Amino acid sequence: MGGGGGSVAAWLCDRVGPTGGVLATDLDTRFLDALDRPNFQVLRHDIVHDPLPAEAFDLVHTRLVLGHLPNRAPALDRMIAAPKPGGWLVLEEMDFVSLAPDPSSGAEAVALIEGVCCPPSSGDGAQLRPLL
Ligand SMILES: C[S@@+](CC[C@H](N)C(=O)[O-])C[C@H]1O[C@@H](n2cnc3c(N)ncnc32)[C@H](O)[C@@H]1O
Repeated sequence: MGGGGGSVAAWLCDRVGPTGGVLATDLDTRFLDALDRPNFQVLRHDIVHDPLPAEAFDLVHTRLVLGHLPNRAPALDRMIAAPKPGGWLVLEEMDFVSLAPDPSSGAEAVALIEGVCCPPSSGDGAQLRPLL
């Protein structure tokens, strides 16, 4: 999901071999379209709004996509529903929640980093921060 430049998709194509298949999706498929593999398919797809088959994939992977979505709950619901029973869902994101600015950077820099990485209105991260 949100395959971008296709590096993970290409790696997966090599892993699944000629009897397997890889489907990569993105809003912008121009880089995925350039990946020429016999076991590879590309789908222009908006993970927030477009339907996705449920219980259809052995592995569903996304990296650095959810953090870009202002409304990520429907996307997450689709990703959770997409693996076959017993399949895998792998979500990779940067960890901005446990990031701690260096106090020796000065109050202004600390406030700037905290404001960018975990502002009060940023949803899930802002709710988790007090727990850490
Ligand atoms: C930071 S790039 C990560 C690309 C790739 N996953 C990687 O790790 O190399 C974010 C990708 O998410 C895609 N994207 C953003 N919003 C999307 C959406 N609503 N549905 C599908 N893809 C989306 C962008 O087009 C972009 O390719």
